[in-house]
Amino acid sequence: MNVPHLTLNDGHEIPQFGFGVFKVSNDDIVASVRTALEAGYRHIDTAAVYGNEAGVGQAIRESGIPREDLFVTTKLWNDSQTPGKARAAIEESLTRLGLDHVDLYLIHWPQPMFGEYVGAWESLIAFRDEGLTTSIGVSNFNADHLDAVIAATDVVPAVNQIELHPTFAQPDLVAYDESLGIRTEAWGPLGQGRGELDEPGIVAVAAEVGRTPAQVTLRWHIQRGIIVFPKSVTPHRIEENFAIFDFELTDAQMAAMDALDAGRRGGADPLAFTAR
Ligand SMILES: NC(=O)c1ccc[n+]([C@@H]2O[C@H](COP(=O)([O-])OP(=O)(O)OC[C@H]3O[C@@H](n4cnc5c(N)ncnc54)[C@H](OP(=O)(O)O)[C@@H]3O)[C@@H](O)[C@H]2O)c1
Repeated sequence: MNVPHLTLNDGHEIPQFGFGVFKVSNDDIVASVRTALEAGYRHIDTAAVYGNEAGVGQAIRESGIPREDLFVTTKLWNDSQTPGKARAAIEESLTRLGLDHVDLYLIHWPQPMFGEYVGAWESLIAFRDEGLTTSIGVSNFNADHLDAVIAATDVVPAVNQIELHPTFAQPDLVAYDESLGIRTEAWGPLGQGRGELDEPGIVAVAAEVGRTPAQVTLRWHIQRGIIVFPKSVTPHRIEENFAIFDFELTDAQMAAMDALDAGRRGGADPLAFTAR
């Protein structure tokens, strides 16, 4: 099954669908990524703070898949936004991954209360120019944070990775990203196991199309133009989540999913998140 590719504002391409590895333990990481790669996933989303970059790298190496066929994202953790620490952080991530560059490097959270994220963005621009990462972007940024980095550098992030799922669809921020030429990536796309997939509105659409709630939720993200990378350590779910490119939701089914937005954030509010 063919995963669509989207073009980023720097001209590079990104597979619109991939594999997330937040909370995948070191006991599970190699097997999970191997299962995903065997199922056809070619885009992996990790982060320094997930503690599993080394396992991601091992699974990639063992797969034998050519590097140029893979898209690997990792992220700068919050304690490393100052210039010297940011450089050490990306170098350490690359060492753990066993790669000479990543495809996408993100500022994980803006943490505006510390006032360091614009400086971190300047570091990411340098890393891109040096080839340590092909593309650069941000995560958990709201419109003010996007405006601040663009005003300071004239460099527009390629992506903004934000919490998105049917009950928290963030239409205004998605539209703002789009107005700036920024691709939106969804984190927590299935609601992070909090019961989102039991929402009657999702279950109803799933019954209509004869697919699972997870599949129609992922299909809703794809048809919104969002980049999505569900996480699972369960082999049959890893395969199920990939099997979404042979059906489409109708406009009415998309509208029914859109109507589930309740502005219900499941994770941290970027304005209040101080963990470092
Ligand atoms: N930038 C950020 O701040 C940020 C924050 C959070 C996440 N992320 C990224 O986004 C990725 C995805 O988000 P997420 O991992 O938080 O949550 P998610 O993908 O929405 O949900 C993962 C949960 O859903 C379950 N699941 C997966 N497929 C399923 C299926 N087909 N049917 C039923 N349940 C299913 C998983 O269970 P099992 O694993 O037990 O199968 C797990 O409990 C992360 O892995 C990470 O790469 C980024």
